[in-house]
Amino acid sequence: VIVILDCGSQYTQLIARRIREQHVFSEILPWDAPMEEIRSRNPKGIVISGSPKSVLSQGAPTISDELFDLGVPILGICYGMQLLSHLLGGKVAKVELAEYGRAKIEVLDLNAAIFRGLPKEFYVWMSHGDTVVELPPGARVLAKSESGLIAAMAFTEKPIFGLQFHPEVAHTEHGIEILRNFLFEVCHCDQTWNLGDWVEEQVKQISQTVGDGKVISALSGGVDSTVAAVLTQRAVGNRLYCVFVNTGLLRLDEAENVLSVYRNELKLNVRYVDASEEFLKALKGVTDPEEKRKAVGRTFIEVFEREAEKVGDAKWLLQGTLYPDVIESGRQGKGASVIKTHHNVGGLPEEMKLKLIEPLKDLFKDEVRAIGSILGIPRSILRRHPFPGPGLSVRCLGEVTPEKLELLRRADAVFIEELDVAGYYEKVWQAFCVLLPVRSVGVTGDERTYGYTVALRAVESLDGMTADWAYLDRELLDKVARRICNEIPGINRVVLDVTSKPPATIEWE
Ligand code: XMP
Repeated sequence: VIVILDCGSQYTQLIARRIREQHVFSEILPWDAPMEEIRSRNPKGIVISGSPKSVLSQGAPTISDELFDLGVPILGICYGMQLLSHLLGGKVAKVELAEYGRAKIEVLDLNAAIFRGLPKEFYVWMSHGDTVVELPPGARVLAKSESGLIAAMAFTEKPIFGLQFHPEVAHTEHGIEILRNFLFEVCHCDQTWNLGDWVEEQVKQISQTVGDGKVISALSGGVDSTVAAVLTQRAVGNRLYCVFVNTGLLRLDEAENVLSVYRNELKLNVRYVDASEEFLKALKGVTDPEEKRKAVGRTFIEVFEREAEKVGDAKWLLQGTLYPDVIESGRQGKGASVIKTHHNVGGLPEEMKLKLIEPLKDLFKDEVRAIGSILGIPRSILRRHPFPGPGLSVRCLGEVTPEKLELLRRADAVFIEELDVAGYYEKVWQAFCVLLPVRSVGVTGDERTYGYTVALRAVESLDGMTADWAYLDRELLDKVARRICNEIPGINRVVLDVTSKPPATIEWE
């Protein structure tokens, strides 16, 4: 395993994924994780991440000196390199010339293990204000940037390396090769991280944990809950009781389609509950976004509890929690901030005295998709975009009514259909329509109309934490807009959302 000490960089998870892509297991720990915890992982190497902080500032993330006594190779990236220099006797300073974005570097020592096999010059991605201006004793410069700053360093006697640039981002040429060099030339890692083995191992573990008890699970139709359920079904068979709640806030034909896959293709033991009316009632008159989320969350718990009781004496609750959720909710990483309350079934175990099983909690989304595919889950499920727990209620701005939901459903179906036809569906992270509580004047034939406005939202993202609006073809947009206005009476205007996250969020509420 490679341990990544997280100092708060937005790229930390990306480093972990890049390493796992090389079939080496990696785990993120907070920078101040106790030494025993780091030692208990028995790491083959340690990576120190970047950080928005300056090593020169008060309270900046730091690491224990004892790390250097482990004799394990260390790679500091960006802030990580500055921190290593700072702690080992070098000097870091804010220089006039900050480097942000693409920069050319020249490798001075092509024999250095991490640069082995690379060209002398290439472009990398930089993002730093501080710089190592004086190397610690025993270290040498491995590469310089065009502006003459130290771009990489290494110790002669110790396996400690520093990179000022980010090898994990796609904009860095040869970034993967540098990481591979660190993993295989320096740390001598084995490529044993294998998702097929992982499945077998998990099935065994779940079966041991649960014994002959009953497990209940809420299915949402999404990738995570489905993969978690199919995996658990492998371990406990029909002692897994799934509940699929139709909140009335699902997309066009979604409940029917998903249920059919669950029952007919995956043979899951699933109970279908149509609670649409209950949810609509809870949402009546509610316009505030957080209130909507709370109303949906509360109703969900009520419905789920009622259904779970029918199962009787279930001891376990299965959840499809992913690694990023674990890191973001602060259960592991430190200093991440939560912007919106995400309502799933988070409040359940405490109230229902159920014990949690979270078999996916060490995995990233793309790994979950890969496992889904190993488990034979159809692509129609695995390729789906993320869909929020509160469903269409947070995409139907203002009060949620059955009439507005119907308009939104139909518009969204047109957008997604055309997106798919044009080959964009799998290129974007997420795409959907938002129904705005605004009406405007239009003209259809010779008739004046006064209809609703739909906003199209399509974003690219790695993990939903940050996102950029996705560029869509003009012809595609044109077709979507024309179809929505022509086919759905009540909507006469379509607009495009071109904001990134931050400053906006992906959903509108
Ligand atoms: P935001 O809007 O916060 O969304 O930028 C980030 C990602 O999270 C999804 N999302 C949710 N997922 N329950 C969920 O399971 C929720 O309450 C929820 N709210 C937002 C959103 O669709 C996007 O992918």
